[in-house]
Amino acid sequence: MFKTRSGPQRYFDGWANAYDRDLARYDYAVPEVVYDALAPRLSGRQQQRLLDIGIGTGLSSTMFRLGFPDMHITGVDASQNMLDACRIKGVADRLFRCDVRHDLMPPGPYEAIIAAGVMEFVEHPEDVLDHIIRHLKTGGYAALAFETPATSHLYGKRWFGGIVGQSPRSVTVRRVHSRLPVPHVYCKYLHATAYVVQLCKSAGLEIVDTTRFEAYRRGNGDVVTHDLLIIRK
Ligand SMILES: C[S@@+](CC[C@H](N)C(=O)[O-])C[C@H]1O[C@@H](n2cnc3c(N)ncnc32)[C@H](O)[C@@H]1O
Repeated sequence: MFKTRSGPQRYFDGWANAYDRDLARYDYAVPEVVYDALAPRLSGRQQQRLLDIGIGTGLSSTMFRLGFPDMHITGVDASQNMLDACRIKGVADRLFRCDVRHDLMPPGPYEAIIAAGVMEFVEHPEDVLDHIIRHLKTGGYAALAFETPATSHLYGKRWFGGIVGQSPRSVTVRRVHSRLPVPHVYCKYLHATAYVVQLCKSAGLEIVDTTRFEAYRRGNGDVVTHDLLIIRK
């Protein structure tokens, strides 16, 4: 058990109960877009195993559970409260509390790996990609949906928040979250797609598709885009 929780862990632990309701209001499109991109590539394969990295409350895995009832689904997440909300739905066959930055993943191999809306909470994209390189079956597919520097304009200065770092590889945004009784700070890392693609290619992974899409709409109407990478090993 962690004694202290990192910024994103606190953020998602505090959000778990309201997460599904809020995202329904935000027209959260990520699960559908990830599913639509991967499903045709997985059809017809037998005994498939899926690893959902940062499964959250299971919104993306639910799509796969419905589309592939026999699929064996493993979910990992750093937030215990998100995992608890997911467990109640019975979407996954196995759930583990894991932090992609320093924990091992439940061993595969997996025919499919997804990380939907997770990489922007991880400073080094390698921490997610390493698990794909290690656990994706040869011939299998991975889908990464993540926020990129294309949304930098949405993060103006507010309190101590705002853009605090910028390089050709990523933009770092500090967020001050005031919804909980005690405000806390966490960072988002908007990784440049070109950099993530370069990392994939140098690890011998093939990029089969790249798409930008409207991931959700904030309460104030701002549209947040994500990039979707479909990767083949
Ligand atoms: C925006 S939510 C996305 C959840 C789900 N994939 C979806 O599409 O609804 C991001 C999730 O990533 C998890 N997460 C963030 N950083 C993580 C880390 N270092 N290791 C594992 N999970 C992490 C959070 O706890 C949260 O559940």
